[in-house]
Amino acid sequence: MKDLLRTADLSADDLVMLLKLATGFQDEPGSAHELLAGRIVPMYFAKPSTRTRLSTAAAVARLGGVPVTVGPDELQLRRGETIADTARVVGSYAAAIVIRTFADTDVEELAAAAPIPVVNALTDGHHPLQAVADLLTVREHFGELHGHRIAYVGDGGNNVARSLMEAAAVAGMEMAIAAPDGYLPQEEALASARAEAERRGGSIVVTHDPAAAASGASVVYTDVWLSMGDSEDERARRRSVFAAYRVDQDLMNGAGEDAVFMHCLPAHRGEEVTAAVIDGGRSLAFRQAANRLPATQAVLYALLTDQLEGRR
Ligand code: CP
Ligand code: NVA
Repeated sequence: MKDLLRTADLSADDLVMLLKLATGFQDEPGSAHELLAGRIVPMYFAKPSTRTRLSTAAAVARLGGVPVTVGPDELQLRRGETIADTARVVGSYAAAIVIRTFADTDVEELAAAAPIPVVNALTDGHHPLQAVADLLTVREHFGELHGHRIAYVGDGGNNVARSLMEAAAVAGMEMAIAAPDGYLPQEEALASARAEAERRGGSIVVTHDPAAAASGASVVYTDVWLSMGDSEDERARRRSVFAAYRVDQDLMNGAGEDAVFMHCLPAHRGEEVTAAVIDGGRSLAFRQAANRLPATQAVLYALLTDQLEGRR
């Protein structure tokens, strides 16, 4: 597998290997410090980013390379150069391309034309780097993934929910997604993740009831109600549609006794989560953010050393 565009493309062995590599990089950050010596890794960000941009820069630096951030106005793409031509050219200078943008089809086109690995750093449909760090965090906390249930509460159709659902499926975990009508996972993605989860001894259920999802869960997870690229005109409507999906202490009390709270960040206290929960003792949100670094280092390392087999 040349690229990481979606978590559903990872095999179960790939996921195990990435988590193992990431754990190794937690212990010995500089163990592969010459892999990218003399190479650059362009990072194209068409949407804002704090964690992904800086953890990826740090990961590239730890592998011995130089991260180069470029925005939409800095390349010739806006002046009519095609994605395919850009991919071919960048491929002759760089070791890999990391891209955060809107359409998944643009990233697929880039990956198809680039002779080097392309990593999806968040699109409208997917956020695979987040999902790898999330499972790293769950495994670090509980010691294993299997047998644990993740309750995702909020916008069940967004990029973070989808990548987490696909990763949980590959890991054979249980996942319950609680979302209002209109914000459930996309049907095709759900069917395919559910089939994968069941093959691996896990399950995926979808409900409108946050308390039902949280019941027995080891992890209660949420994300913003309005994602980057969603229309600002929707903000007020979403605040009312999602009001019953806020993660608060009551919801956490209904989860498993040792349940933790997770959030990919950035967070909006008082919207998708209360301050008491995200800043409380059961919150792993900031551990997750820290784990973005070794997780991304593992993804880059595995792709650059051609170690991912892929699932299809
Ligand atoms: N979680 C995450 O991807 O954060 P950024 O948008 O800050 O990169
Ligand atoms: N779903 C959010 C995730 C941010 C990291 C977004 O796309 O804005």
